[in-house]
Order: sequence, then C-alpha cells, then structure tokens
Amino acid sequence: MSIALIILAAGKGTRMQSDLPKVLHEIASAPMLVHAIMAGDSLDPERCIIIAGHGADAVAAVAQNHNADAEIIIQSEQLGTGHAVEQARDALAGFTGTVIVLYGDTPLIQAKTLASLSESISDSAICVLGFEARDPGRYGRLITDDDNLKRIVEFKDASDAEKLVTLCNSGVMAVQAPLLFELLSEIDNKNTTNEYYLTDIVAKAVARGEICKVVRCTETETLGVNSRVELAEAELEFQTLRRDELLENGITMPAPETVHLAYDTIIGRDSTIEQNVVFGPGVTIETGAKIRAFSHLEGAHVSRGCVVGPYARLRPGAELAEDVKIGNFVEIKASLLAEGAKVNHLSYIGDTTVGARANIGAGTVTCNYDGVMKHRTSIGEDAFIGSNTMFVAPVSVGQEAMTASGSVIVRNVPAGDLAIGRAKQENKTGLAVKLMKKLKAIKTAKKE
Ligand code: UD1
Ligand code: CA
Repeated sequence: MSIALIILAAGKGTRMQSDLPKVLHEIASAPMLVHAIMAGDSLDPERCIIIAGHGADAVAAVAQNHNADAEIIIQSEQLGTGHAVEQARDALAGFTGTVIVLYGDTPLIQAKTLASLSESISDSAICVLGFEARDPGRYGRLITDDDNLKRIVEFKDASDAEKLVTLCNSGVMAVQAPLLFELLSEIDNKNTTNEYYLTDIVAKAVARGEICKVVRCTETETLGVNSRVELAEAELEFQTLRRDELLENGITMPAPETVHLAYDTIIGRDSTIEQNVVFGPGVTIETGAKIRAFSHLEGAHVSRGCVVGPYARLRPGAELAEDVKIGNFVEIKASLLAEGAKVNHLSYIGDTTVGARANIGAGTVTCNYDGVMKHRTSIGEDAFIGSNTMFVAPVSVGQEAMTASGSVIVRNVPAGDLAIGRAKQENKTGLAVKLMKKLKAIKTAKKE
C-alpha cells in the first residue's frame, strides 16, 4: 500500500508569543515538525507533503533539510483543516494509496500508532486516531455507533449531549485517495467559525455508505502544542518516554529525571549516564562507556570503555576511540582522540588529532584560531604533554615526544624529542625577603 503524508503546518501559533513559526519550536533539539515527519517516515511514505503558511520559507528549509524529497505547498490563508488538506489536491492527482494527515504541532505521535492506523484503513474509507480525554475540553468529539465512526463534531458546534462524549479527535487520520478529495469537494464552512473542517469528511463518507473507524491511542501521544507551557509539557513527556526506553535497553541512570536527551541520542547497553548530563543532537555512546555528572555532549561519538566527565564538554566532531578518558573542565571540539588517550583536567582541544595513549597534561590548550582561520594540531602516539602547554596551531608533535610544562609550542616537535618552550628560570638569592621588607617600609612611611 502506498502512503502519502500530509502534514499541516500553516498555523501561526499566536499563543506561542513568538516570531518563530510554531512548528519550528523544538522538542529534544528537533523542531516539532521534524518529529512529525520522522513519525511519518516510519511508514515509508511515497510522498511527504507539508502544508505551510506562516513562516513558510523557514518551515520549508527545515522540512527539506530533514527530507530533501519533502514537498512544500503554501496555504496562504488559513481557512481550516479541510482547506489545508485541499491544497494538496493537485499534487496528489492520480494518487491511489492512503493519505495520512498529521499535525506539525503534535510531536509525540508514535510510529507504532501510525502503523496500526495504516493497517486498519485496509477495510475502511477513513480511519481516525482517537483518544479518551481526561478533560475533553475543546477537542472535536467522535460520535460512534458500536465500532463505527459516524461523524466528528467540533466542540463549538456540539450539542450539550455531544459535549459529554469523552472520545476525542486527535486530528490524525488515514483516508483513502482519491475519495479524500471527492469528500473535500462536498464540505462547506457553514459552522460557528466559518472554517472548512477536515473532520466533516467523516459524515460525508458515511452518507455514501462508506465505513469509517476509530483507532485509539493514549492522550499523551496526541498532545498538541499551542503555548510554551504545552511545549514544556511535551518536552517532559518526550524525555520521560526516552529515558524509560534507555533504562529498559540496559543503560544505567541513577537519576534518569536529571538526564536530558536529544531526539536522536543513541546509547549502547551497559553504559552509565550519571546525574545532570545533557545531550544535544548527534551523540552516539557505545557500549560500556561512562558519562559522569554535569557533562554536556553534542555531535560527539564516544566509544566503548570511555570515561567522560564529570563536567566535560564534547562539542561537534569530538570523536573518542576506545578507552579514552576525558576529565573535568575539558572541552573537545572537532578532534579525534585515538585509543587510550587521556585529557584529564582543564583543557581545550580543538581541530586536533591525538594519537593512541598520548597523555595531555592539565591546562593544555590548542590555540586553533588566529582570529581569521582555524588551524590543526597533531599529537603523536604515546606523546606526553606537560601541564599548561599552549599549542600554537598549525603545529605537530611526533610520537613519544614530550613538551615541558608551561611551554608555548610554535614549531613542530620531532618524534622522541623533548620541547622546552619557556623562559629560562633564574633564582635571585634572598631577593624575596629584601623586596618584602622594602615594600612594608614604603607602606609604613605613607601612613605617617
Ligand atoms: C482540530 C480538529 C479537532 C481535534 C483537534 C486536535 C478540525 C476542524 N478540528 O481542531 O477535531 O480535536 O484538532 O488537536 O480539524 N492548520 C493549517 N491550516 C489551517 C488550519 C489549521 O495548517 O487552515 C493546522 C494548524 O497549524 C494546526 C492543525 O492544522 O497544526 C490543527 O489546527 P487547529 O486550528 O489547531 O485545529 P483545532 O481547532 O485544534
Ligand atoms: Ca489545535
């Protein structure tokens, strides 16, 4: 069965109080729209159509950055969800599969729920994703007769009896094409808000003798975001879900509620993630690694047996081979650290390759930026870098070489050499005591 997704993302989202289009606000480091697209991707859709309106250029850029094949259709006036889907009519002319309508502001929808929706459509014309609402509020109500869906009534148009119904419309539905567009031709905007309701197609289908069904999911999954409060709620739900998944997959987290994950965080089993660790996008942690408390990771790959932190920062392009140790107050950016390398204290390592087993002393800094361009540092296998070494890149240090503490390294160091790049020390006999006496005398003279 071929599937076309239509993702509604034209709304302004006034209640977000934002210049950013609502669907581009992020949950777990990914725009809500991307969450919706990813859920849809699990169905392996033939087409992915995004209905954009407010901030359409930005919405298009995000959608196509995630999926180059995403088709953007502009709905310049937002006249309702039915009108929004109608915009895809020409694009889907001749399409005979199933259309799945998703909302760009409903980011928690699960792949397995969409799978059961797309299975259930096989013997019906429309399949609507519904949920039992704790507080049905302003949701559309699903009016059923036994197992069959008869129609959907919007809250604003519902009778008192209909308002008592707690089975609500999530907004997500599967509809057979081309029937969808035939039904859309029949709907009007004669209702309280003068909008074209997508939900009206159900009654139209039933009037034709078609079967419509409801597939149920949890209320959480259909959480729609209309405000920053709801954005924070959705974030929490997402985090809770992912943390539980990780725990089930054999990851140790002594305080899971303090760990912040990104939408794409991958963590191998038997890894430990300590308290207050934050994952930005693009992090992979392999089996048996340990990320200690208060570390921040983004765009990084951590191999088996590594220990990172506490208080470490891995920035994009940090690539740690097996058994690498990164200690407190160390920042790593765009650098490859080979097996067993150690950077244990107070360092910045950027645009660098560090050879296997090399030991980088406390306070070492790679000076990679000259104000205009970035330059690379290369440190050989088994090198021993003295504390507080400054590498003025581009520069390289050969294998088994050493640098003396406090050195400023501006020239390459051949393999096996010791580089000392600091002023020579001189000791002035008794001068400290003499100087101190003199200074105290000056102070006393001033007071008198
Ligand atoms: C809709 C449903 C309601 C359901 C609820 C679930 C209709 C008529 N009602 O109501 O039954 O319970 O969702 O959250 O479908 N959009 C466009 N273009 C438009 C109008 C809307 O792209 O012209 C987008 C919005 O940006 C939003 C989504 O469609 O992402 C839903 O629209 P919204 O106006 O929020 O619908 P509700 O009134 O919440
Ligand atoms: Ca809504």
